[in-house]
Amino acid sequence: MSALTKVFTDEIRKIEETHWAEMVSKPYRLTHHLMPPCGWLNDPNGLSWYQGRYHVFFQYSPFEVKGGLKFWGHYSSEDLINWTYEGVSLYPDSPADCHGVYSGSALAEEETLHLFYTGNVKLDGDYDYINNGRCANTLHVESKDGIEFGIKENVIPCTQYPEDYTCHIRDPKVWKEGDRYRMVLGGRRKDDHGAVLLYSSRDLKQWNLDGELTTEEKFGYMWECPDMFELSGNEILSVSPQGVEREEYRYQNIYLSGYFILRDGKVFKEDFREWDMGFDFYAPQTFVDKKGRRILIGWMGMPDAEEEYVNNTLEEGWQHCLTVPRELKYCNGKVYQYPVEELMNLRRWKKKLCDADRETETDGAFDLELQVQKGPAKVVLADIFKLEYRDGILVLEMDQQAGAGRRTRKACIEELRSIRILADTSAAEIYVNEGEVVFSVRFYGKGTKHRLKIEAEGFRGGIWKLEKMS
Ligand code: FRU
Repeated sequence: MSALTKVFTDEIRKIEETHWAEMVSKPYRLTHHLMPPCGWLNDPNGLSWYQGRYHVFFQYSPFEVKGGLKFWGHYSSEDLINWTYEGVSLYPDSPADCHGVYSGSALAEEETLHLFYTGNVKLDGDYDYINNGRCANTLHVESKDGIEFGIKENVIPCTQYPEDYTCHIRDPKVWKEGDRYRMVLGGRRKDDHGAVLLYSSRDLKQWNLDGELTTEEKFGYMWECPDMFELSGNEILSVSPQGVEREEYRYQNIYLSGYFILRDGKVFKEDFREWDMGFDFYAPQTFVDKKGRRILIGWMGMPDAEEEYVNNTLEEGWQHCLTVPRELKYCNGKVYQYPVEELMNLRRWKKKLCDADRETETDGAFDLELQVQKGPAKVVLADIFKLEYRDGILVLEMDQQAGAGRRTRKACIEELRSIRILADTSAAEIYVNEGEVVFSVRFYGKGTKHRLKIEAEGFRGGIWKLEKMS
């Protein structure tokens, strides 16, 4: 361990230990979402199933609650509900990543867990932010036990990227296809188009540039955190584009995350669908687990959010969380997302809800399922939010206080069949029509008890209390 790594390790351990005890009693700490021990969390990284355990790494700034120098924090689990915090696994401690171990992915092989990530190096001097102010290396590191990682190798130094790209190239996602490995990197071209670069390799060390993928018509200036995978015979490219103009029913956040289903190996702007219509969702990543499920986890946060928004957890010394793991399924040209079935193990039955019994009081985290007949419907969680469906439009409206500056998000759907709400102490994931549309949102209520009221013709449903994950 280098002297610098040792300083980081000791300082982080100290700050985590100090905060850990205090954090437990903070009202907005979550019960079934992964969050940073203290400080700041952003993108999920290195999602994998390796030697009997799930691994979830994340962008972590333990020292700065508003984000700063990035490390990789690490959780692991056998069953997606009992999690162990494994500490920090990657430190910005080499010349190739000294200003941040940025986002990346994992490739799990039988005997080795490989991580690929962006080593961020900021350049001082006569440089500009867009074109040449940083050097973003693609680094590779291996582990046998999934916990300790070895020597960092710079497999694509930043000098080797194509000429027509700015210095914004990052977030390698690596996977195996047949007898070769493939990698996709997100980027900003010099003509200000967002795009991804496609690489392949036989040995994970030598990477050849095979081409790029982007829309013919510009769709944002930068595509971050790409992912590429197959789902029921469809080739899917997931990206997080920046610089797409806001519309009333789509693209309502400053930055987006969504996917294209490729047609003849190409992506088309009109095919882009957002993963999530809520305020707090960005930079998702997917992986395949032991059961062969394609699972997605996103960052429940939003960089450079609206100015009027104040994240109330700042006072508690931490910010942001990850979504619950969501299983992906393809159906009729769309990808549906639904919480993995393991989360059902946290449920404790509370009560049936129906036409004759439309109200209840919630206390802390809960899981609500409703089957709805066609027609308008409304779910009100008093002093937190209201979800209303009418004439093909879903509107999520935050309470002014609890929304902390956020008001409405909208989505269009042809009909409403079902609503599921996974509500945590200060985060909710709302799944409409078994995950055809999802809204993820943070909220800051007063106290833990809230009146829940449903207004819909002939609905059936139930509510469970959700136990805390360990
Ligand atoms: C996305 C992102 C990535 C980058 C990371 C840095 O939120 O900007 O592109 O690698 O965050 O933390």
